[in-house]
Amino acid sequence: MKSINTVLQRGEIGRYDREKLLNQKSVLIWFTGLSGSGKSTIAYALEKKLTANGNLCYVLDGDNVRQGLNGDLSFSPQDRKENIRRIGEVGKLFVEAGLITLTAFISPYRQDRQAVRAKLEKGRFIEVYLKCPLSVCEGRDVKGLYNKARSGEIEDFTGVSSPYEEPENPDLVVESDKIEITVAVEKIFQYLKEKAIIEVK
Ligand code: ADX
Repeated sequence: MKSINTVLQRGEIGRYDREKLLNQKSVLIWFTGLSGSGKSTIAYALEKKLTANGNLCYVLDGDNVRQGLNGDLSFSPQDRKENIRRIGEVGKLFVEAGLITLTAFISPYRQDRQAVRAKLEKGRFIEVYLKCPLSVCEGRDVKGLYNKARSGEIEDFTGVSSPYEEPENPDLVVESDKIEITVAVEKIFQYLKEKAIIEVK
């Protein structure tokens, strides 16, 4: 930490005021899984359903964030760790802002995901594991990256030449090769309702 001699500043308006205004509990919905497991697709579909329900949401997506804020990071273990650390901090700010924040990052390391969970209050970090066999993700190969990873054109590719550590205690597991996107979205939506994070109109 190089930013020393800083003092935390606070306004009169807090997260609870914003949550009241928005009529929702702000949380960080953390999707994790292999490339091609459906993280972005399900996050955006859930965002659409929540928005239609009157909730204010925002999706932070790995491919997008890596074109801006995290454009200086590679796919080495250290840089992936820094990628997830920064998104954890951004996610925490968005939660402070009152938003239902959805993230779609492979986030392959258990310890890095755990570190994000530890930054948030209990119940505000919801880990959703998109469980999908590597063979299915690779078969889909929507972006053609598995093909490039197999041929050696891309190094350190998750599932091929870089590890993915499965969550041990995720809040939700979605087997994205077994159920439709709409069913997956409905399952997460119902979970948010049961936990009183959203009120369903
Ligand atoms: S993470 O491992 O650091 O969490 P992140 O989700 O930000 O990864 O980015 C993953 C996306 O970057 C993939 O969906 C894919 O489109 C692209 N990508 C490019 N190179 C790699 C690589 N070596 N491993 C994994 N994904 C890669």
